Amino acid sequence: MPPRNQTFLQACRGERPARTPIWLMRQAGRYMPEYRAIRAKVSFTELCRSPDLCAEVTLQPVDYLGVDAAILFSDILVVFDALGIDVRFEPSPVIATPVRTAADVNALQWGDPHTELSYVYNAVRACKRALADRVPLIGFCGAPFTTLSYLVEGQTSREFEHIKGMIFSAPAVFAGLMENMTTLLCEYLRGQVLAGVDALQVFDSWAGALAPADYREHVLPHLARLVDFTRNLGVPLILFVRGNANLLALAAELPAEVIGVDWSIDMDQAVAITGPNRVVQGNLDPMLLLGPAALVERKAREVVAAARHAKAHIFNLGHGISRHTDPALARHLVEVVHSA
Ligand code: CP3
Repeated sequence: MPPRNQTFLQACRGERPARTPIWLMRQAGRYMPEYRAIRAKVSFTELCRSPDLCAEVTLQPVDYLGVDAAILFSDILVVFDALGIDVRFEPSPVIATPVRTAADVNALQWGDPHTELSYVYNAVRACKRALADRVPLIGFCGAPFTTLSYLVEGQTSREFEHIKGMIFSAPAVFAGLMENMTTLLCEYLRGQVLAGVDALQVFDSWAGALAPADYREHVLPHLARLVDFTRNLGVPLILFVRGNANLLALAAELPAEVIGVDWSIDMDQAVAITGPNRVVQGNLDPMLLLGPAALVERKAREVVAAARHAKAHIFNLGHGISRHTDPALARHLVEVVHSA
């Protein structure tokens, strides 16, 4: 059965439903007391590996906020299970054995996501059952560059010195790694669609680490292959390339149905870049939700108005919601966007 609330999927197709659809990146998480109650009992890793708990957490913001789409509760870094590489969440991710040399890269064992990540696919099925066709379910993965930045740096990085060092001093090693990671992510997304997700989002959260010309040369061809691959999966793709407004034009060269816009650019300028035939998603600065309700209302209406020349608009934050957000204000934001 298709989801009863179709507004998100309509917007993905370029239609303009009566109410602007909204969901929030990282909408399930520590800012919600219901989430913290579950995390008091299980670790983040255990949670990601427990399909029924993933479903429960995935539905928390659907029930409380009234958003128009659910996003699978998981993490972009679970794919390392297909390489047999352990990630500890402290809660910031740490990989004890980062991959930095040609020898490290050659020693990698590329496993099959359909077996190694079957718990994610079980979580997708559990989410679909629990949602009972209320709203669509979004599956996701990290883009090849963002995913590899964790593998090479071993943690969230400020300077990205190891991965950029690899790009500039051993470009063939980096290209081989990107090639293999892209193939793994293609299969991983295919598995999510087979398990039932209604749409996909690819997060290139750390794209802004690279100068646009270097992004074009070393990253874009691989991302293009991932985007092209998803076109044959039969669900819409949201491409979110974050960090620098110059990257938006590069992202918009790729044939993703929806272009995610971060908060580093005003929405009307973003639409001027993506053009009148593109669907955009975004882009309220998540930290605005730490401010007063009246300011959130005004800024949210400004974003909706600024997106009016796009083909269609899915309201979202310009990056993930802060853990310090008052859930009631996030819920108020959903009402404001629905009535804008
Ligand atoms: O959006 C959702 O509600 C679905 C769940 C989701 C999580 N991570 C849960 C999570 C999604 C879509 C992600 C994506 C993700 N993970 C990204 C891309 C999006 C972005 O924010 O740029 C990245 C870079 C990661 C890597 C990651 N995972 C980091 C940096 C951290 C720790 C810092 C933080 O934000 O908490 C995680 C852990 C993580 N992933 C948590 C959650 C709810 C917190 C874990 C906890 O409960 O302690």
